[in-house]
Amino acid sequence: MSRRIAVTVILIAALLAATTVFAQQRPYNQIMKDIQTTFANLKKSLDASGVTAAAAPAGGRGGGDEEAAGAGGRGGRGAPPNWDQAVRDSAVQDAAKLQGLFKETEDFWGKFSTHDAMNFAKSAQDGADQVAAAAKANDPRKAQAAYAAIQKNCGLCHFTHREETGKGFFIKP
Ligand code: HEC
Repeated sequence: MSRRIAVTVILIAALLAATTVFAQQRPYNQIMKDIQTTFANLKKSLDASGVTAAAAPAGGRGGGDEEAAGAGGRGGRGAPPNWDQAVRDSAVQDAAKLQGLFKETEDFWGKFSTHDAMNFAKSAQDGADQVAAAAKANDPRKAQAAYAAIQKNCGLCHFTHREETGKGFFIKP
């Protein structure tokens, strides 16, 4: 093999490797936009149960950012939840979609081996799983608590890995 051909082959191989790495994933902010829409939609389904607050602190690490705040309110203990089956189904669907989106998020950070970000994305998947289980079990209080637990991960990851530039956001691996 002549030298030029060898170099060309190597270049093509490198290019293919690079394109597969990048082609595997859509732009990160599109994942985030999807997450935001689905997460807001899910919240509506949970609030439609009439139980608007997590009964107990959701637990988990850290916490205390502006995105996690704002829970609190009514949610009379004892009264049977008035949670429409169709709305619960929609909550289960949104939670399942979020699980997929946070898996996509986890894979994104996996390429940088950014372990804390991968863990935030993993905890968010667990939270979404719990929301789905609680919606199936007609337990809006648990669903709201799990929702708050997901939300903590938004705040924690943004705090560490998102940089506001005034014109948009930067990713900080
Ligand atoms: C594992 C880290 C991580 C988690 C978890 C996470 N985000 Fe993000 N998010 C980021 C980073 C980094 C950016 C900045 C990159 C960008 O905007 O392209 C961002 C950007 C965003 C944006 C701005 C997108 C744009 O450019 O318009 C929204 C909205 C958003 N996130 C919502 C959420 C919500 C809601 C949650 C939780 C339900 C969440 N994110 C969870 C890392 C995360």
